[in-house]
Amino acid sequence: MKSVIVIGAQWGDEGKGKIVDIYSEFADTIVRPTGGNNAGHTLVVKGEKFVFHLIPSGILHPGKKCVISNGVVVDPKVLLSEIGRLKERGYLQDDSQLKVGLLANVILPYHILLDKAREERLGDRKIGTTARGIGPCYEDKIARTGIRLCDLVRPNAFAEKLRAGLELKNFLLKNYYGAGEVPFQGTYEEYLAYGERLSVHLIDTSLFINEEIRQGAKVLFEGAQGTLLDIDHGTYPFVTSSNTTAGGACTGSGVSPTKISAVIGVSKAYATRVGGGPFPTELFDEEGQGIRDRGNEYGSTTGRPRRCGWFDAPVVRYAARLNGLSGVALTKLDVLSGMPRLKVCVAYEVDGVRRDQVPLSLEDFEAAKPVFEQVEGWKEDISSAREFGDLPKAARKYVHMLEDVTGVEISLVSVGADRNETIIRKNPFRA
Ligand code: GDP
Ligand code: IMO
Ligand code: MG
Repeated sequence: MKSVIVIGAQWGDEGKGKIVDIYSEFADTIVRPTGGNNAGHTLVVKGEKFVFHLIPSGILHPGKKCVISNGVVVDPKVLLSEIGRLKERGYLQDDSQLKVGLLANVILPYHILLDKAREERLGDRKIGTTARGIGPCYEDKIARTGIRLCDLVRPNAFAEKLRAGLELKNFLLKNYYGAGEVPFQGTYEEYLAYGERLSVHLIDTSLFINEEIRQGAKVLFEGAQGTLLDIDHGTYPFVTSSNTTAGGACTGSGVSPTKISAVIGVSKAYATRVGGGPFPTELFDEEGQGIRDRGNEYGSTTGRPRRCGWFDAPVVRYAARLNGLSGVALTKLDVLSGMPRLKVCVAYEVDGVRRDQVPLSLEDFEAAKPVFEQVEGWKEDISSAREFGDLPKAARKYVHMLEDVTGVEISLVSVGADRNETIIRKNPFRA
């Protein structure tokens, strides 16, 4: 039995797409268990770039089955356009390669309007969401008033649920937020048509994945967002609305934790964050701008500049604890080349007291001052390294130091965006 979960160990955008693409070679089935099109997973294959918001990053591997499971919130318009673009580029020629959960909740236009209206209302304290309607859709799901993909293929049930949903949402939009209303008829017809177009993909995904596992398939789960954005364990309220941690991959896909053999956390060799919320190691100077420029740190979904800072070990240690990490895939080590010295945050100081753990309260997290250790940098371009021994001594020392301060083995080192710019030290499907 070999099923591996890949999750983000920081604040998202760690390079999960690239890592999932690499591990897909060794898997049979790739599953997106949580989140929605707030995610933007980028892969580069022989210089050609792909950005996926909903479809698993394994889709470029012919013959591999890809699944969007029930824990995902699906904007059908976005999914259909992603399917269309892939087909145009010669991929996904067989519809049966992509399976989508009948029980996944649907993002409707009022979710997007509410997301935007709410953010506007929050002003300075806004979360900085991706404005894709993610939060309002998950709220409906938890309130048991959501509309699911199975409803889109049942016209009467859909009409009834949409009417009920619109009654309250339009009241809120119009009377509380002073925003536009969503019409029933146009929305009904549009989404019914989406349901029909998606129907070839809709199945019981939990049954499918578990059956695959029973028959010996290797399953790879592609987490979205990052550990510190988890609704229960992240920097609340500056989080997303789903469980981004390894447990979320199990609930989101309907696969038991007993079926999982490894969890790989993806982490950059430094740290970034998009949107608001605490970020103790954030850099506001030229060094930060240098990382942003060299790392092209601009969001794949919204194009926003990402906040950049030094590697934060307590954050990755926290991710190791919450996810039971078997290993870390360290990305973007190449971006640090040329920096004369590097800093690593090993602990925080809050009100003059040293703290080794991530603070639980937002106030303490916002007040946390990083305690840094400095290490020597390296000048060499490392993007052609394919073995760990090809890296300059200082880069190897940096990787070993990160292993020491996080307590997790670094099983992969990524030295460029392209699929082949990778050093695999240990393969979770072979270990
Ligand atoms: P994800 O959301 O975790 O999949 O990450 P994103 O795709 O949003 O952001 C990661 C960005 O870094 C993408 O543009 C990747 O192509 C790029 N990337 C991934 N690994 C590396 C690496 O090792 N070096 C460099 N320079 N870029 C990388
Ligand atoms: P991937 O999968 C980085 C952030 C948003 C915002 C907060 C809430 O590409 O790593 P939401 O729209 O989810 O309600 O926004 O979460 N966020 C991400 N940041 N990467 C992501 O996904 C993110 N998905 C959401 O910027 O701060
Ligand atoms: Mg991303």
